[in-house]
Amino acid sequence: MTGTVLILGASSAIAHATASAFAAKGYHLVLAGRSPQELQRNAQDLSLRHGVTVTTRHFDALDFGSHQAFYDRILQDQPDLAGMVYAIGLLEDQAVLNKHPELSRKVIDANYTAGALLLSLFANHFESRQSGFLIGISSVAGDRGRQSNYTYGASKGAFSLFLQGLRNRLAGSGVRVITIKPGFVDTAMTWGMPGLFLLASPEQVGRKIAQAPERWADVRYIPCFWRYIMLIIKAIPEFLFKRMKL
Ligand SMILES: NC(=O)c1ccc[n+]([C@@H]2O[C@H](COP(=O)([O-])OP(=O)(O)OC[C@H]3O[C@@H](n4cnc5c(N)ncnc54)[C@H](OP(=O)(O)O)[C@@H]3O)[C@@H](O)[C@H]2O)c1
Repeated sequence: MTGTVLILGASSAIAHATASAFAAKGYHLVLAGRSPQELQRNAQDLSLRHGVTVTTRHFDALDFGSHQAFYDRILQDQPDLAGMVYAIGLLEDQAVLNKHPELSRKVIDANYTAGALLLSLFANHFESRQSGFLIGISSVAGDRGRQSNYTYGASKGAFSLFLQGLRNRLAGSGVRVITIKPGFVDTAMTWGMPGLFLLASPEQVGRKIAQAPERWADVRYIPCFWRYIMLIIKAIPEFLFKRMKL
């Protein structure tokens, strides 16, 4: 494989595993995020293990004024950009958000607004080149609203819908738009949470994400059995679902 893959939110365990799986295929990488030391550590690890070029870039998704300059810089430095992965995500305790609704804005903006705006910029670039892939990491939490995490779930649901529309727009343009819906994954985001089941490893998820541009599926549940779990969850009638403690 040739070209460079841009990974946004590259300090996350899922993003690191995804970057590693892309590097194993021979892609060069740009790791973008807010934690310079973490990114630098990951970059050294990936270039040593896979012999690819790995650069790092500062990116704060909530600094909306910086998006255009970030985009311009990436295109200037990486004319061989093959694709990008939006792995940025923010989960806050729903009980805290219920008490302080004003904190929800950060969750919505990190999971949805910033992803939609940034992917729109890169979509135009890839569309003009008639090639490339845009991968958005959404979540099974976006498939149905539940009392335990509905602000996070709603922002992921909006992101999934945005990706679906973008895919529809770009169908036939040579650009792939891929939605990733992981179930529970063993990362910093879920650390210490009660009641988690069927926990996947970040490596398992990262491998599947890096395979996605070569496969036909546009929406990938990871692990794949989550597709069937969510089919059942979505089929429960609302009058019953609203009484369930989920
Ligand atoms: N773990 C799960 O069970 C699970 C399930 C479904 C979907 N997901 C999704 O998978 C993705 C990766 O999550 P993870 O589990 O690996 O958790 P994580 O370690 O908490 O990763 C979240 C990433 O988002 C970054 N981020 C948050 N706000 C940001 C901002 N304003 N600007 C730039 N970066 C920002 C974090 O950067 P910092 O290090 O700077 O905070 C971190 O790199 C997320 O989109 C998450 O929603 C996770």
